[in-house]
Amino acid sequence: YTLEIPWGQSAEKGESMAVKIIGTGSALPKKVVSNEEMAGLVETSDQWIRERTGIGSRHISTGETVVSLAVEACEKALAHGDRKASEVQLILVATCTPEKGIPCAACQVQSLLGAAEAVAFDLNAACAGFLFALHTAHAYIEAGIYDNALVVGSEVLSKVVDWTDRGTCVLFGDGAGAVLLERSGQPGILGFVQHSDGTKGGVLQCDGRKLENPFVSLPVGNPFLSMDGREVFAFALRQVPACIWEALSQAKLSPEDVDLYVLHQANRRIIEGIAGRMNLEAARFPMNLERTGNMSSASIPVLLDELVREGRLQEGMTLVLSGFGAGLTYGACVLKWQRSLDFSGEIGIVKESVRGDRGAGKKVQAAGWGGTGIILSMRCW
Ligand code: ACO
Repeated sequence: YTLEIPWGQSAEKGESMAVKIIGTGSALPKKVVSNEEMAGLVETSDQWIRERTGIGSRHISTGETVVSLAVEACEKALAHGDRKASEVQLILVATCTPEKGIPCAACQVQSLLGAAEAVAFDLNAACAGFLFALHTAHAYIEAGIYDNALVVGSEVLSKVVDWTDRGTCVLFGDGAGAVLLERSGQPGILGFVQHSDGTKGGVLQCDGRKLENPFVSLPVGNPFLSMDGREVFAFALRQVPACIWEALSQAKLSPEDVDLYVLHQANRRIIEGIAGRMNLEAARFPMNLERTGNMSSASIPVLLDELVREGRLQEGMTLVLSGFGAGLTYGACVLKWQRSLDFSGEIGIVKESVRGDRGAGKKVQAAGWGGTGIILSMRCW
């Protein structure tokens, strides 16, 4: 029977509402800070940072905000998915570094995008935030409440990093990534798990505003990010393979069935350690942290978008996404990549068109650019 939902949408009970990613986008601040420049700020070296973390440089905001980066990433995801902002029904921004306490970043993104029909709210699960937001949006769509969603991870960690602490400031970068999700006829997301362990909250933390009112004034905590690096390292190596196994068993797949593992880009040694524990070659674990550092909730969607734009994702590929971080929070997702037009090349203007003037003067985006360099299709708008 049909389950009537009061606000006008409906879902067949028992019907599988599969969800797929139809667009991706990302945005990074213009300023790039190399390890050599970091060595001018704290006592460190390019060699130490590369050997311990794999990081070579990171993008640092000189004015870009969580909201401006998120808007740019969303606009690219909408263009890639060929949808208008006015069609978006849900916007979730995963962030632990919003500019404002109120209103939430997602409402500011909604306003700047012109997504007037969308419901918008933030979600904070630190480095697992994007994954948790993806799961939340998936649940809404699967329940028949919304048809689509923009899911964003956006961070300006440079404002919570202690720039005098060499143990942490070398690790992080700023950026945003977004995906556009839509209900699909075929199963897209095959397995999904998420976990939280609040008892380990002290391992990675950053205090907020102090309590001060006419009745009390409590001492200020540490407003900067502090971390027990070794504990985080051990946690990631212990829990991430286990939760990937859990998601794979939901999907009835083995680790060998997965084409690419898109993991939170915390540290190259962590990612290689996870690959080793799963008896998988590191080549299945793409990384961009050498250029971006750890961007918390933005790491996974930025890497996903780069893979899309490099043409490395083909329709039918199986991917695992896995995030882990402060909370502690961790999770994994198994999905079938469903988009066939994966690469969005240079945007230019069509000078002439073989089909009369239909395309002339319009913006064009090349899609489906394979290893051979052949443009398989063009999209005009
Ligand atoms: N440059 C030079 N020396 C440094 C630096 C630096 N940037 N940072 C620390 N050191 C020094 C320390 O002071 C220490 O010196 P000491 O022996 O004289 O006391 C020495 O290097 C070893 O310090 P450790 O902290 O023990 O170094 P470790 O090998 O554990 O590496 C690191 C530190 C890279 C943070 C590691 O613990 C790690 O990768 N942890 C994972 C945590 C992580 O990636 N967190 C990211 C955020 S959390 C997340 O995204 C989930």
